[in-house]
Amino acid sequence: MKIMEIDGGKEISGTIRISGAKNATVALIPAAILTDEQATICNIPEITDTEALCDILTTLNVKIHRASESIVIDPQEMKNIEIEESYSKKLRASYYFMGALLGKYKKAIMYFPGGCSIGARPIDQHLKGFEALGAKVTVDRNKYIVEAEELKGANIYLDIASVGATINIMLAATKAKGTTIIDNAAKEPEIVNVATFLNNMGAKITGAGTSTIKIEGVEYLHQCFHEVIPDRIEAGTYIIAGSLCGKNLKIDNIIPEHIDSLLSKLEEIGVDLEVGADYVIVSKKEKYKSSTIKTAVYPGFPTDLQQPLTVLLTQSTGKSKIIETIWENRFMHIPYLRELGADISIKNQTATIVGPTKLTGTTVVATDLRAGASMVIAGLIATGKTKITNVEHILRGYEQIVEKLTSVGAKITIKEI
Ligand code: EPU
Repeated sequence: MKIMEIDGGKEISGTIRISGAKNATVALIPAAILTDEQATICNIPEITDTEALCDILTTLNVKIHRASESIVIDPQEMKNIEIEESYSKKLRASYYFMGALLGKYKKAIMYFPGGCSIGARPIDQHLKGFEALGAKVTVDRNKYIVEAEELKGANIYLDIASVGATINIMLAATKAKGTTIIDNAAKEPEIVNVATFLNNMGAKITGAGTSTIKIEGVEYLHQCFHEVIPDRIEAGTYIIAGSLCGKNLKIDNIIPEHIDSLLSKLEEIGVDLEVGADYVIVSKKEKYKSSTIKTAVYPGFPTDLQQPLTVLLTQSTGKSKIIETIWENRFMHIPYLRELGADISIKNQTATIVGPTKLTGTTVVATDLRAGASMVIAGLIATGKTKITNVEHILRGYEQIVEKLTSVGAKITIKEI
């Protein structure tokens, strides 16, 4: 087990370069097996979720070649075998192999996916989409068997604008016969990045980024070169950290419009921001206003930044509210923020935060990825030492977090215990 230790109260200043987006990467790697040649993807973040997906590729006999931030994926000799539970449960995104294998071989067998325990996380919308394309879905205890004689384009209306279902159906439909329309599709930038990747290989997808996506099936997908977009959640996390202890902290290599909802909220709270073409510069201010935040699908306020933002609200004057509408179990960071000294109560899906409160270092737990990020931010501003356990969750999604924060002046270490 790894433990992180932060000696709080240090000013952070300099530049943090944002890595490739985790939630795009984890879909792009499974999507790459759809090529009939080979795919090169650059700006891949070195996080444990990337490693877990590469392990799955290896078990499927896919050749991979990694060089610094890029990866070449060659599935020309791959074998469509069952994906074992020990692999699938390592992360949520293992389920993208279902859509990709179904698209390529008309058959996928894999165990339930894993991931953060932030809610029930059903995948009924993914399965409904596969069935609409002509697949039969069998659930054998904790194993899914999805197979079709032929995949045929269909009109699919998603009951929930799900990121995962939108991508998974897009993957399966890319090689289906005829045209598929996904209505009420999710619009997240990661979906656009995956559609662009598939189009670079010869797929015919239009409308990604809107609520109606059209996929005309193709037979052959050729080689391509693709770049992962910058991670908007990593960017948001460091911008929030900068608002609390930064001095001219530059968050570089970002697409600011992907975090419009965060930047607007931060401005409302009173954060000092300079927004450039591909960067944000942020500095701490002495006083912040309280606010109400309601999480929503893109372009609304991202649920993934709700937990990091809670820390800023503990330092804002007055009563703030966070209403979580996406995940029913995403307040696990709250008990630990309270242990650090925050005044927060939860009723149903709303957290009420009264600030400002002084935070004092203690031992806390990273219960999930973004809860972990909020613990890191809290540790940066708490007096004394904060120890964070279950750091493995954080390393699933933040590339070189210790190195990046150390390089701007934070006192943070990680060690195996
Ligand atoms: N949902 C269903 N049925 C489905 C699919 C989703 O009821 O078939 C529900 C979920 O239970 C949830 C809501 O719909 O209440 C949204 O789920 P969605 O499918 O959009 O989420 P996801 O694809 O499982 C991705 C990100 C999450 C992020 C959400 C929302 C990946 C690998 N994960 O999850 O990221 O919170 O979209 O934006 O892309 C994170 O990075 O920390 C993280 C959890």
